[in-house]
Amino acid sequence: MQKTPRNIKITVVQNSPEFGRPEKNRAEVARMLLGQADPSADLIVLPELFATGYQFDSRAELRDLAEPEDGPTFGFLSEISGATGAVVVAGLPIRRGADFSNGALAIFKNSLLASYDKIHLFDEERDFFVEGTRPLPVFETPFGPMGLMICFDWLFPEALRSLALSGALVVAHPSNWVLPFGPQGMILRSVENRVFTVTANRVGREERGGRPPLTFIGQSQVIGPRGDVIARGPADEPVLLQARIDPEEARSKKVASRSDFFEQRRPGLYSSLTS
Ligand code: ACM
Repeated sequence: MQKTPRNIKITVVQNSPEFGRPEKNRAEVARMLLGQADPSADLIVLPELFATGYQFDSRAELRDLAEPEDGPTFGFLSEISGATGAVVVAGLPIRRGADFSNGALAIFKNSLLASYDKIHLFDEERDFFVEGTRPLPVFETPFGPMGLMICFDWLFPEALRSLALSGALVVAHPSNWVLPFGPQGMILRSVENRVFTVTANRVGREERGGRPPLTFIGQSQVIGPRGDVIARGPADEPVLLQARIDPEEARSKKVASRSDFFEQRRPGLYSSLTS
């Protein structure tokens, strides 16, 4: 992979998928991205379950919409990567044997950089998906080591901490946020790990199968390692969000001449964390 550029361009897709219409939703994302005057980017992040919608009503529905890792979404993300030059990260339901994960892929050109199955399932997701059993991934990109987590993972501080301890400078965070405190909460997550976080959240509403309605809160955002809100989208409209960052700003965890807050950790005194 090439040397780390000092300045990378990030594009965040905040879309409004229609449940159960993956082809239509993918085409809409392609129009948003490739219709720009300059579609080039280094990193593109799409929401959790960006092409299927979120509120499954039955396992049969999920079976119809889930894909293998090398299915149509892989092909779509490869095409987007080829057309833009970007590492592309997106969430989708992945078939895992007889089960399904709420997954995400990171793709560069025709290569799979990482595949992740969400380890902290939120609320009704627990009726349909199986929890991931592999650690949160950190992988090399042309702009340095990057991590990946999905939506509700953010509320487990250990998730982003483990990515940062493994060297991630930038963390992609495909989401379908419904709880109102995610955007603010992610500011602290970024500060306490001194990493860039890139949350792609959807907008719109779903009310399926007599289940309680869900309103997705948008506000996709790029947060810097000192808690700066570099970009944040609206709460209720599809939009492309853009930002330029220098991932190297996340390398040092030193906040004062004698205080590097990763070196000063005391894991031996945090034993309840691993129980
Ligand atoms: C969520 O994890 N989709 C709230």
